Amino acid sequence: MHQEATARNSIRVSETVYHLLEMRKPRVLAVCSLSLLLSGAIFASAQNAQLTSGKVNARVESLLRQMTLEEKIGQTVQYSAGFATGPSASNLTYDELVAKGSLGSMLNVVGSERTNHYQHIAMEKSRLHIPIIFGLDVIHGHHTTFPVPLAIAASWDPAAAETVARVSAEEARADGIDWVFSPMVDIARDPRWGRIIESNGEDPYLSSALARAWVKGYQQGDLSRPDSVAASVKHFAAYGAVIAGRDYNAVDMSELTLRQVYLKPYHAAVEAGVATVMTSFNSLNGVPSTANPFLLTQILRNEWGFNGFVVSDWAAVGELKNHAIGDAPTVARKALEAGTDMDMEGNLYATVLADQVRSGKIPQKVLDEAVRRILRVKFALGLFDHPYTQPGPAYTPTPERRAVARKIAGETMVLLKNDPVEGVGNLLPLSAKVKTVALIGPLADDAFDLQGAWTVTGNPADVITLKAALGKRLGDKLLYARGCGLLPAKDEAALKGVTFTSTTSAASTEALADEQQSIAEAVEVARKADVAILALGEPSNWMEGEAASRTTLGFTGAQQQLLEAIVATGKPVVLVVLAARPLELKWAAGHVPAILQAWSPGIEAGPAVENVLFGDVNPSGKLPLSFPRAVGQEPLYYAQSPNGRPADGDLSHMPLNAQQKMVSRYMDEQNSALFPFGWGLSYTRFTYSYPTIDHAQIPMRNIALDHKPLATVSVDVQNSGSVAGTEVLQLYIRNTSASVEQPVRELKGFSRVTLAPGETKHVTFALGFDELNFYNAALKETIEPTTYDIWVGGSSLATAATSLKIVE
Ligand code: BGC
Repeated sequence: MHQEATARNSIRVSETVYHLLEMRKPRVLAVCSLSLLLSGAIFASAQNAQLTSGKVNARVESLLRQMTLEEKIGQTVQYSAGFATGPSASNLTYDELVAKGSLGSMLNVVGSERTNHYQHIAMEKSRLHIPIIFGLDVIHGHHTTFPVPLAIAASWDPAAAETVARVSAEEARADGIDWVFSPMVDIARDPRWGRIIESNGEDPYLSSALARAWVKGYQQGDLSRPDSVAASVKHFAAYGAVIAGRDYNAVDMSELTLRQVYLKPYHAAVEAGVATVMTSFNSLNGVPSTANPFLLTQILRNEWGFNGFVVSDWAAVGELKNHAIGDAPTVARKALEAGTDMDMEGNLYATVLADQVRSGKIPQKVLDEAVRRILRVKFALGLFDHPYTQPGPAYTPTPERRAVARKIAGETMVLLKNDPVEGVGNLLPLSAKVKTVALIGPLADDAFDLQGAWTVTGNPADVITLKAALGKRLGDKLLYARGCGLLPAKDEAALKGVTFTSTTSAASTEALADEQQSIAEAVEVARKADVAILALGEPSNWMEGEAASRTTLGFTGAQQQLLEAIVATGKPVVLVVLAARPLELKWAAGHVPAILQAWSPGIEAGPAVENVLFGDVNPSGKLPLSFPRAVGQEPLYYAQSPNGRPADGDLSHMPLNAQQKMVSRYMDEQNSALFPFGWGLSYTRFTYSYPTIDHAQIPMRNIALDHKPLATVSVDVQNSGSVAGTEVLQLYIRNTSASVEQPVRELKGFSRVTLAPGETKHVTFALGFDELNFYNAALKETIEPTTYDIWVGGSSLATAATSLKIVE
């Protein structure tokens, strides 16, 4: 990225940054002399007015008065009557349970026929005719499979997330689904954790902007619409910080970090009106999240004013027994009292609550409150008035849906590297002069894994692979070799028995009988071509997502060997990385001229990659997390805390002496990321003016606890290349003197700007209390007299700077 000062003489168009677009509600003022202290509780307010409207409340109370204890408990119970995404409760007779009013919600029941079956029983046979609420994991599209959430985060485009959520809601509702278990907004800073692919990455500011967009797209501000669904923000809380990146492990962190970093995106979702929250599997500082009153009552209800309901994660109430905090009745009581309103597949609320309520051990009002919260969501969704789903035609992706999926997939691709090659110039975009292209690698034609992990209803048959798309463009100028499998043959065979959803199959991971032979064949294919495109990554359905932690971050199977063999031919190589977690790309970065991070792109994988490789789409994605040089750096993130012995710059080539040794460094690797947060290249060049600020000095007395801007940072960005392009401008701050040490850099604004060749746009970023505050030692959000360094540029390495002083 180029960040030189540039002449400001071209067209000027004001761009508004995303954070200004957010609904800004005035907050109560409370001023202290030197610092401003803000307790979340001051701002508690009902977050989703629809859930507690007078009409909904009246209907809920009237129903509650008629309910027996068993019927009340029934509302808190959820079972999966389809495939299992975890250990199952038992073989239950769901028809019977529904008829008795002993089951309030079901998951993994999909399609109008199946959902209507249970809904008819609930509405016609159960005493009080309370509808079932049907939930499902709709993670990156329902039938139309979009790129995985981490890829969408790489677009830095909340409008894209909102579109994906809106399309998903429409398709899911037509399939009888009222409620989706999305978005997952766990801050994820450790790619050993497979669920990083479901996250928005490492940064609380970016993740919060995306959290709001996902919720808005699913719920569309009105749960009663026939094409909106209730969302469930998950997993509350801090699940992304499991120790050593091992799934389901414990989390141990200071409350300061919890509040300043990890809680932010969940809070953003709650402020956006999310109807439900899902607990997390992990314990937090010794207390399992599913039975954690600090999280579920103090923060969620009392501080944030959340008025929807809380569902446990899969079997998490039952699994509290494994956390060794009590026997079955005790853990169920703890979960309910802490604020977990619904037990997903844990089979404990159904079995051990009734006696405890009867005996008074659990106060009746605790159960009533949980039931009230669940019923409110059912009423707000209109389920009592429109319980059934009209059967529709079988879904096939329309050209319009495909066009949306392709456009969004194109926005998510990050051009990591694009070096000149002798006689060719920059290798990408591929020039029309290139005659023969060799497409090589196990992901080139793997519809199953190109969809990405965690698609329940996605159909691999809908996926256009790279081989199909490039074949269409190049005809017989495209040569192809698979080269190797994604995993060694024995592992593939073992994984074939494992299926998580009804539609997945292991067919695409077909093992190759003789891998050395097939690598040799791929080398021959590369030799015949002008350029080789390598489609490598990891098997998304087996090694990404839940229960998919890794201790290494290399390409799986023999792919690294394949890559090295093709590079050794001397042919120019374009590496397309089709993995949705950051892999270790150090060798590739040192030997391959062009690298495109393409994640798991969904049904339009092939056309989206093809468009970028051939320059029909100019890449604009930016990394939503840091890519490491080595797995040992993890957790690696840019917003590091300072330390007393900082290591400056690249120490890897320095002779080791005492001065360079006794600093915060690794002996065998640099500290920095291989590709940093915010990084992404374009086929054009963007030049930045130095940023300016309209109020460089602000007295403390002018600072109010509201959302109003205190100062505006402006910058001009010019497209100084010869093709149109989109740049994601990023604003970072550093608080240089605070009572609690602050990160060396923090993202506080971003803006996607599209520029024609030669065009300049004027971009402004507002800085107010929201952007400048931090948590002090008393855990209050505050601003103190200080100087903020401010940078604007195209990545977290931005150098063009200005500053803002807060004075007494
Ligand atoms: C996952 C959740 C998911 C739930 C329901 C759990 O295993 O952690 O993210 O929503 O299953 O399928």
